[in-house]
Amino acid sequence: MCGIIGYCGPKPAASVLLEGLKRLEYRGYDSAGICVWSPEGLELYKRKGKIRELAALVPAGAAAPAGTCGIGHTRWATHGEVNDLNAHPHLDCSGRIAVVHNGIIENYLTLKEKLIAEGHRFASETDSEVIAHLIEKYYSGDLLEAVRKALALLKGTYGIVCLHRDHPDRLVGARQGSPLVVGLGSGETFLASDVTAIISHTKQVVYLEDGELVSISPQEFKTTDLKDQEVEKKVESVSWELEQIEKGGFTHFMEKEIFEQPESIKRAMSGRLDLEEATAHLGGLNMSNRDLLNVERVRIVAAGTSWHAGLVGMYLLESIARIPCTVEISSELRYRNPLVERNTLHFVVSQSGETADSLYAMRELQRKGATVLGVCNVVGSTIARESDGGVYIHSGPEIAVASTKAFTSQVTVFYLFSLLLGRMRHLSADAGRAFIQDLQSVPLKVEAILAGSRAIRELAVRYCQYKDFLFLGRGINYPVAMEGALKLKEISYIHAEGYSAAELKHGPIALINEETPCLFLVPDDGLREKIMSNIKEVKSRRGRVIAVCAAGDREVRDIADDVIEVPRAHETFYPFLMVVPLQLLAYYAAVELGRDVDQPRNLAKSVTVE
Ligand code: F6R
Repeated sequence: MCGIIGYCGPKPAASVLLEGLKRLEYRGYDSAGICVWSPEGLELYKRKGKIRELAALVPAGAAAPAGTCGIGHTRWATHGEVNDLNAHPHLDCSGRIAVVHNGIIENYLTLKEKLIAEGHRFASETDSEVIAHLIEKYYSGDLLEAVRKALALLKGTYGIVCLHRDHPDRLVGARQGSPLVVGLGSGETFLASDVTAIISHTKQVVYLEDGELVSISPQEFKTTDLKDQEVEKKVESVSWELEQIEKGGFTHFMEKEIFEQPESIKRAMSGRLDLEEATAHLGGLNMSNRDLLNVERVRIVAAGTSWHAGLVGMYLLESIARIPCTVEISSELRYRNPLVERNTLHFVVSQSGETADSLYAMRELQRKGATVLGVCNVVGSTIARESDGGVYIHSGPEIAVASTKAFTSQVTVFYLFSLLLGRMRHLSADAGRAFIQDLQSVPLKVEAILAGSRAIRELAVRYCQYKDFLFLGRGINYPVAMEGALKLKEISYIHAEGYSAAELKHGPIALINEETPCLFLVPDDGLREKIMSNIKEVKSRRGRVIAVCAAGDREVRDIADDVIEVPRAHETFYPFLMVVPLQLLAYYAAVELGRDVDQPRNLAKSVTVE
């Protein structure tokens, strides 16, 4: 959602903040602002639109803000429309306190009414502004103390950073439900909602936990809790490299991330496959072999693309490990008062590790005694830290809002886990070995698909004027069809729905005409003949058909209007090969339509609000 950065050090803060905001823009991009300390008072710049528009507003050259301490924010609106006034930072009445906030203050209306009755004047419609006024109310020389008193009144979630006119080289931050990390440089200290904002400056970080406050100066930081008890923190090292968060010659992050998949899939399995024992090793599970043997059921919980990856996982766990598995949308599970059965292992799948729906679902499950493993990308993220164990997918930073490489890596982890559990049950060593070889051949096959991207681009150019699409698949490729539809709609804004091809006749077939292309996933698996019949049903109703099929499938080529061929594989491994063309199709369609591919409208990476 929103992105936060704070800086205290020797450099002019404005340029550090703008650079950080640029790197955080994928977290929210409807408006942005910075506030920098200066001897004359706080200098505030905020503007609706992208960071480049804010940068144009901030004076450059001799007039540039000279202050070396400041805060910045990129917004994804929740309360109040998108305009300059509602952009952060927000000031108190005196203009001496500035605050940036991620999250939602649920009781802000009550607090606001009370503050107005006490004489405070509000400038915005946001929930966040109450924080600045509360700090003003409680401030009597000690900023940390005033923030602590203000926080005691808040209900909801926050990651905040505040700056005060009386403290030229100090910032105070706090976290409750929205991530905040301290970056330790030499003679400079940072606060950020996300390490990508600061890794060009430092890789030494300290992750705050919920209920913690931090006070930073250029030389030091001090962490306390809401009762003012000092908290010892561990300094950790971030492994991401700067080039991983840059486009490196690609036009968009999404394009780069699609093309990184041969490598990211390899990384997800690297060091985890054991050909001799024909199994997988997943070190972070924190479970003994006995614990794993006792697993009778698996439940996977996630949102969006990660939910689709979980659905692929369900097919794998049931077919390879022969373990019953259910997959649920995290936002639904949480409010359903879920039953936690004995011997059920839970997974929460989340690229960011910060998705509020998934995090709260995990906490609810843990409260009921469940063991929950995380499948996360972002090291040190909240789900990664609070889960009872887990597996990092090691995709490297995913910056494009539309998830691509995280999906294939999450899926890879489920192949590994299914192999591990399968080998502890009925799967023979020979079958395990064949499974490993098939899995290891996936990156090369994905590379071959990427090498044929030009043909997919041409297809996207020809089809992008259609208004509605159906994506249809069966079995393990049914969630891939849903993922393809999600990719297309979220970045090109073309309406698309993913269905099981068998469901077509139960309703969606009513939509079929020349104007609604159907994209069928037709691997050469046990369901191929069934899908061929579905294609014929569409053709006989004059529908247009694009088919993604196994290389050399003449029958599909003869019946479909257009075909994307993918390398042949064992039927279990087609999800990798089916999803990549769909990612490319969505990407090229969005480019052709002139969409903002990396930052599609209304969306943001890492959905930290409910
Ligand atoms: C779609 C997309 C989202 C996320 C979802 C969950 O391209 O990126 O659907 O998959 O918001 O996010 P994580 O995996 O970070 O929990």
